[in-house]
Amino acid sequence: MRNEEIIETRQKYLYYNKKAMYKEPIQLVKAKGTKVWDNEGNEYLDAIGGIVCNSAGHNHPRIIKKIKEMLDSDAIQHTTYLYLSEHMATLAKKISEQAPGSKLTRCYITNSGSEANEMAIMSARVATGHQTVIALRHGYHGGTNVAQGLCGHSIWKQNSQPQVNIVHAVEPNCYRCPFGQKRDSCDLECAKEIKNVIETATCGKIAAMIVEPILGVGGFIDPPFEYHRQIAKTVRSYGGKYVSDEVQTGVGRTGKHFFAIEDSDVEPDIISMAKGIGNGAAVGAIVARDEIAKAMEGKAHFNTFGGDPYQAMQAAETIDIILEEQLIQNSAKMGDYLKQGLKDLQKDFTLIGDVRGRGLLVGMELVTNLETKEYATQEAANLIEYAKHEGLLIGKGGLYGNVIRLAPSMAITKKECDDLLIKLRKSFEKL
Ligand SMILES: Cc1ncc(COP(=O)(O)O)c(C=O)c1O
Repeated sequence: MRNEEIIETRQKYLYYNKKAMYKEPIQLVKAKGTKVWDNEGNEYLDAIGGIVCNSAGHNHPRIIKKIKEMLDSDAIQHTTYLYLSEHMATLAKKISEQAPGSKLTRCYITNSGSEANEMAIMSARVATGHQTVIALRHGYHGGTNVAQGLCGHSIWKQNSQPQVNIVHAVEPNCYRCPFGQKRDSCDLECAKEIKNVIETATCGKIAAMIVEPILGVGGFIDPPFEYHRQIAKTVRSYGGKYVSDEVQTGVGRTGKHFFAIEDSDVEPDIISMAKGIGNGAAVGAIVARDEIAKAMEGKAHFNTFGGDPYQAMQAAETIDIILEEQLIQNSAKMGDYLKQGLKDLQKDFTLIGDVRGRGLLVGMELVTNLETKEYATQEAANLIEYAKHEGLLIGKGGLYGNVIRLAPSMAITKKECDDLLIKLRKSFEKL
């Protein structure tokens, strides 16, 4: 189908809020590694990895081989957990093996990150007998009902919001500290605030707190490691479970551990994941402590597609690829290289107020004034258009859409990072 035809058909038959990106939307039809191609043969460097999904690289040969083998052997496409399937069991084992410590052993496989978070919150509520969940302003946890309630962004919360039994705490944003402090000299007031929130906005007992180690959609807000250590302690002292939402930060993208929360030396009670765990396949999961999973015993809960053979196989294979091809180590190396490149750009372009992130989850906050830090929302939108013309796909985030987000495949090479930086520099020059 031609682009015009697709646009026309979308306008007629899709929901009005399904808007394509770019003034002239593109139709991506082919992909390999870090590269994607549109229907006119134009090549792009995919520096946002779908949307932070592409961990092992598009169309990894090992995954293609496995899919072909399954198709050629008439492998069953759909079967639920009511029947035995090696793929769901294998995936659960592999996820448990990568979870920090020895206590996170029990998995529930889902279709998406939103559904994983629904399951995480339901499990925490059942296990504790409490209802209230603390989430962070500027956090993002998905598009289903409870997940939207957990979000800390007005644009992602529709008319059904706010929800009862969800309370938001201030964001740990060091570039725009809500307490007017500086990262290196603060007393982690944002972490201490959690105690106030629990004591004043809840009944004093909570089910959970859900936190992204780095707030992805929020604009790669990356608090100090100590922040997570302190809030985990506080949450537990009020009876709550600590849920680490690793939908964006998981699978080693941050360059040190398979789950980013380990950087803070915290063993959460539940970890939710999706996106990169399937390398693009529609799969999510939670891994929880045994006693939490045990609390759900006998409570009927069904999802038709969670753990389907093809999806579960792709996720299990992705984990193996990440470990065997040392993609966590590559994320650390290439992430440092990319970040340094962005810091060099910052010296030449005063629009770049902040460069932050870990591993291959790096962002630049654009501001029109370095002192007053006015949000450069339009400039970020324009930069994304210019980057497209340079053959570079990048993302944006932040409450005001002024944070440029980079999350390429964890297998990106130094040469590709150089190419990315050159394209980005040219885009800034045009801007
Ligand atoms: C941190 C985080 N949690 C949850 C979700 C929801 O995942 P999904 O879109 O697969 O439902 C997202 C999606 O962007 C996310 O970034």
